[in-house]
Amino acid sequence: MDDSRETLTKRAFVTGYPVRHSRSPLIHGHWLKTFSIDGSYVAREIAPDDFPAFIGSLKDGSSLFCGGNVTIPHKETAFQLADRPDELAEELGAANTLWLEEGQLLATNTDGHGFVSNLDARQPGWDASDVAVVLGAGGASRAVIQAVRDRGIGEIHVVNRTVERARELADRFGPRVHAHPIGALREVMTNAGLFVNTTSLGMDGDRAPEIDFSHLRSGAVVTDIVYVPLMTQILSQAEEQGFVVVDGLGMLLHQAAPGFEKWFGRRPVVDDTLRNLIIADM
Ligand code: ATR
Repeated sequence: MDDSRETLTKRAFVTGYPVRHSRSPLIHGHWLKTFSIDGSYVAREIAPDDFPAFIGSLKDGSSLFCGGNVTIPHKETAFQLADRPDELAEELGAANTLWLEEGQLLATNTDGHGFVSNLDARQPGWDASDVAVVLGAGGASRAVIQAVRDRGIGEIHVVNRTVERARELADRFGPRVHAHPIGALREVMTNAGLFVNTTSLGMDGDRAPEIDFSHLRSGAVVTDIVYVPLMTQILSQAEEQGFVVVDGLGMLLHQAAPGFEKWFGRRPVVDDTLRNLIIADM
């Protein structure tokens, strides 16, 4: 292996548009340091029109990257341009992790893995066979539904302002996933053991609507995929009403681990040192 190949195996990226707020370079930089790996992980802001050319340079080796993460708005295009997306990416129609293998571009989606691993780590007793309520029906919601379904959850109720989008997800993810309009939220929460917010409600200084969680079963877990702030308005409300809450930061940290292993060959751990590093940067 010559020097340029050596470099090729150790450079990874995150690309989005915009990408400057991404915490991924901090996460992967921490792991590179932990393992003393001579590699790099950098942010590349790429406009949608330029994204196919970027993927082309990745495939032909001229970019010298061995893979990377893609975030909004490139996840769907990344899936379409990959040579071999795996089943997870295929079902979601979106990829967030790319890597080269024998000249081919492989792709997966680790968002769902990040979601369940965060629950496993912070609330080990969460019950995958329970009834779950997922608020929202966007891209993040898909990954959450897929992951929870794959862990064997009993029933999943998807509640969305635009009920048609929830119906699309119910059709896509099979018989145990049900769609509801937002007005049905209270009713579908009855006896549910898991509530997941996948919307941006309460961000950007807006007030989130008041949610009455009292119909959830006692001991239910309420979680949010938003992690800025860590304690979202929805989580605060749930905690005040006596429920266990899990913030969304761990989802970001756990979704990063499989990519690091693909590019750099070591499986990193998500621990409090990393979590505190990211919190200090927020
Ligand atoms: P992402 O891919 O990050 O999940 P998205 O596709 O824009 O983002 O989805 C955002 C989700 O938040 C959607 O479920 C959206 O509801 P609609 O499908 O009805 O648009 C939901 N959402 C955003 N703002 C909302 C609001 N003010 N009230 C209710 N739901 C909202």
